[in-house]
Amino acid sequence: MRLCIGLTGGIGCGKSTVAGLFAKHGAGIIDTDTIARRLTQAGGEAIAAIRAAFGDDYITDDGALNRAKMRGLIFSDAAAKQRLELILHPLILEQAKVQLRQLQTKPYIILVVPLLAESPAFRQLAQRVLVVDCDENTQVARVIGRSRMTEAEVRGIIAQQTPRAERLQLADDVIRNDAGLDSLAEQVSVLHGHYSDRQNND
Ligand SMILES: Nc1ncnc2c1ncn2[C@@H]1O[C@H](COP(=O)(O)OP(=O)(O)OP(=O)(O)O)[C@@H](O)[C@H]1O
Ligand SMILES: [Mg+2]
Repeated sequence: MRLCIGLTGGIGCGKSTVAGLFAKHGAGIIDTDTIARRLTQAGGEAIAAIRAAFGDDYITDDGALNRAKMRGLIFSDAAAKQRLELILHPLILEQAKVQLRQLQTKPYIILVVPLLAESPAFRQLAQRVLVVDCDENTQVARVIGRSRMTEAEVRGIIAQQTPRAERLQLADDVIRNDAGLDSLAEQVSVLHGHYSDRQNND
């Protein structure tokens, strides 16, 4: 099996941006957010189970997950969040394994998992953990810049995620994303060299 690197980090730290940079170097990318979105779009594999567990109110007229409504529920209801995760995580894991097999022609694979710190099953798929990390204020500014969320909402999400120090303890490699995109590209380039070498030596 190809070297698989689990890429994680808090909300807005730059996971998707970093994955995009690795893709330019030819890495295979598996994005669990993309998988989750596909599972919950109209006709998606998770829709029937979500409807059964949460009711028709959480499904739109065209048969997709009502994301805004679900976000509102799980933000304040930990049990509901867990119920949703019990439906989604096994399906995401299964799909990630399928993609992992399909990407064996790539030099190595970057598996993007926001919840890697909370998910031993996903950690088992990866031989290394790469954490993209930045200061909380930078995180907040970037998420606000990208969406319509308020500062309080973003800080609320950060407070619910695994603490930064705990996530960093899992890291084999760390990318610091407090500076500009040039610095990010440079760090990715160095890691690309390491990951390619490691693959060749295995
Ligand atoms: N070094 C950087 N300089 C400037 N802007 C950046 C930098 N890194 C990321 N961004 C911007 O910050 C925002 C968040 O980055 P990105 O979407 O990559 O984070 P993420 O970790 O994937 O977020 P999420 O947890 O929501 O999936 C994006 O708008 C991105 O373009
Ligand atoms: Mg992202």
